[in-house]
Amino acid sequence: MPSLQEQIKEYEQEINAFAPANAAELEEYRIRFLGTKGIVKQVFGEMKTVPAEQRKEAGQLLNGLKQLAEAKYDTYKDMQAGATAKGPVADYTLPGTPIATGTRHPLRVIENKITSLFEKIGFSVATGPEIEDDWHNFTSLNMPQDHPARDMQDTFYVATNPDWVLRTHTSSTQARVMETQPLPIRVICPGRVYRNETISARAHCFFHQCEGLYIDKNVSFADLKQTLYYFVTEMFGENTKVRFRPSYFPFTEPSAEMDISCTVCGGSGCNLCKHSGWVEILGCGMVHPNMLRNFGIDPEVYTGFAFGMGVERITQIKYQVNDLRLYSQNDVRFLRQFQGID
Ligand code: DAH
Repeated sequence: MPSLQEQIKEYEQEINAFAPANAAELEEYRIRFLGTKGIVKQVFGEMKTVPAEQRKEAGQLLNGLKQLAEAKYDTYKDMQAGATAKGPVADYTLPGTPIATGTRHPLRVIENKITSLFEKIGFSVATGPEIEDDWHNFTSLNMPQDHPARDMQDTFYVATNPDWVLRTHTSSTQARVMETQPLPIRVICPGRVYRNETISARAHCFFHQCEGLYIDKNVSFADLKQTLYYFVTEMFGENTKVRFRPSYFPFTEPSAEMDISCTVCGGSGCNLCKHSGWVEILGCGMVHPNMLRNFGIDPEVYTGFAFGMGVERITQIKYQVNDLRLYSQNDVRFLRQFQGID
């Protein structure tokens, strides 16, 4: 008769060689080794025949067998009933499943870039609500009820309250900052804005703007130009040229629009600049005295400049995205192109 040690060794070999092809074979194995009348129990039962001085050693051997039998069973126990497997259910030596890295949305990338460029020169970020009242979106910005400039923007009104609108521009945040913050003021205000436009490649019912506002004693148009020139060269490269064209906004006087030399064709003419060599990127001007007065700021003592730019526009120029709809369709083929950019 083989000794207990020899028997255990044989069982261990059997266990090591065992690889179930299906759940039924695994169950058979479980009953044979780990069942209530199984081998492990049986061998433990034989302990009483082992002489006292050999018990310790035999006990260790037995425990080893038990652990081996259980470990083997654990490896396969997830096997679905009826399923077949050629090897262990999980192969822990395989490389892991790669976790896809997300991308920042291009608009967020550009918005962050804009705000951080202005933060570098002493502006702080301010935000305001997207549902705005008439005062902050229009009236305080020198656009009273009957002002024709209200027609420049097709407004969404909140049905339940005629005084509320979805803000049509981030200039409403300017108003809120002037209302609450002590002078001097130097803020950059990013945010989403809404207009009742038919959605197409060139227009959308929501988009994003970044507004800048600087109010202090002795702020001049030259400060405005220099600040924007700094922004343009940092954003688009130092060879980029700027030009200012006179324009009209109710909340600034004088007002201007700023163009930059086309960064795509370098001025020779392309689709982006409509063969003019110049691309408009923002509106700006000196804060209108009426607007200062609306917030109790004395225009004889303080002056200020303001500007507002479209984030989609800057992004379009930077990355040549020529359809506004792409920004909100969440098509991963579009978004993936911005992987690694932050
Ligand atoms: N609010 C204007 C718009 O949405 C942009 C703008 C123009 C903002 C001139 C300004 C500004 O602060 O000074 O078209």
